[in-house]
Amino acid sequence: MANDKKYSVVIAGGGSTFTPGFVLDLIKSQDMFPLRQLKFYDNDAERQEKIAKAVEIIIKERAPQIKFSYTTDPKKAFTDVDFVMGSIRVGKYHMRSLDEKIPLKYGVNGQETTGPGGMAYGLRSIPAIIQIIDWMEKYSPNAWMINYSNTIAIVAEACRRLRPNAKVINICDMPIDIMNRMAKICGLDSFHDLDFTYYGLNHFGWWKSVRNKKTGEDLMPKLKDYVSKNGYWVGGDYDKDTEASWEATFKKAKDCYSLDPTTLPNTYMQYYYFPQYEVANANPKHTRTDEILEHRQKIVFGECKRIVEAGTAKDNIWDISGLHSEYIVDICHAIAYNTHEKFLANCPNNGAISNMDPDSIVEVPCLYGADGIQPLATGKAGRFQRGLMMEQQTCEKLVVDAYVEHSYNKMLQAFTLNKTVPDASVAKKILDDMMVVNKPYWPELK
Ligand code: NAD
Ligand code: LMR
Repeated sequence: MANDKKYSVVIAGGGSTFTPGFVLDLIKSQDMFPLRQLKFYDNDAERQEKIAKAVEIIIKERAPQIKFSYTTDPKKAFTDVDFVMGSIRVGKYHMRSLDEKIPLKYGVNGQETTGPGGMAYGLRSIPAIIQIIDWMEKYSPNAWMINYSNTIAIVAEACRRLRPNAKVINICDMPIDIMNRMAKICGLDSFHDLDFTYYGLNHFGWWKSVRNKKTGEDLMPKLKDYVSKNGYWVGGDYDKDTEASWEATFKKAKDCYSLDPTTLPNTYMQYYYFPQYEVANANPKHTRTDEILEHRQKIVFGECKRIVEAGTAKDNIWDISGLHSEYIVDICHAIAYNTHEKFLANCPNNGAISNMDPDSIVEVPCLYGADGIQPLATGKAGRFQRGLMMEQQTCEKLVVDAYVEHSYNKMLQAFTLNKTVPDASVAKKILDDMMVVNKPYWPELK
């Protein structure tokens, strides 16, 4: 260990379904990233408390040296912290459900972070994330914020424009999830065993190379062969808890791969390559939100209740299942100990993809250290990929324009340009419905 410091972390979005898994991961990593304090912050006291009461027990049993507290008071939350983990969902699942169902009503892809739903969610998230950055800078000016609150591409563009000097890094776990699958397919343990080159936008990217980190072996031929038959579906024990919609997604990567056999795709490309297929296979009355409410949310809150009633966290579900967030601890460790380890981040391009604009927000490999992130050069994007990215990032920029200028027209342009939307009149219908339900969250668009 490079220093003896113990760290103080606040999770913004303490009531998140990912919080208990994240806490257990932090506890498991005490040798690598020791904590003196852990706080939760949320603007929904009741939801947060359900998670926090269970976490109190977990910490008392497993890491009593960590001082734990939870609050809805920003000053208490953001004072004396080294890292802020951003895991908020503005409008919670109620609004996610509308993001999914309103576009489907008009025959358009309804999804959390892609298409009109993703843009609606991004517009909701911007002010809340900017507010959290401002509190962090006011109460703990040396802290870093590691944000994984979606829609990441739009949030990152808002950070670039509105808080260009803030110590905030916007990250995503989808490539990690896929790389864990790649490792399994190649007989390795986890993403830690892989070296890689990846480029794109958030939920919109491609692997150019994947190698065995230790031996340097080129794993692309093996992976391409596998993905061309099975997508990223591993099956067996590995996938025993994978939900139906994710099974379909991992399998669909087979078709996404067929569009460009020189790279391996992020699973989210399915929404842009096959929007009609997605709509045809969606149930507008039962979307991913309903699946989460019936599955993940029920399991997480049920388990927290069980822990509180039992007064012990012995044999909890997170000890048995994998943890969502292991790479977040890796990232904090890399910043805290200046390791210059390589992880992806969403950041201004500045040459990382040679044929994209410097001010594009891109998702590329970066070296993480005490100064934050240093993006690595990934070379030139293919013509197909560049065309797709130019369109998509323009949508993301237009959403931030709409936020800054309170512009209805910019939001309409964003929806109209998006690859998932057939024409401007459909874009307008979706936007008009969304304006009504997003009134408490969006700026007034004129
Ligand atoms: P969740 O609804 O279970 O939890 C989010 C919490 O945020 C809720 O407790 C809610 O009360 C709180 N919240 C909402 N607005 C807030 C605000 N302004 N200030 C403070 N707290 C606020 O959501 P979840 O499913 O756990 O997801 C959390 C976030 O993580 C979402 O943004 C989701 O999209 C994102 N996510 C990111 C990745 C990634 O790798 N980037 C992966 C999965 C989920
Ligand atoms: C989530 O809430 O898990 C999302 O971020 C991704 C999904 O499962 O739809």
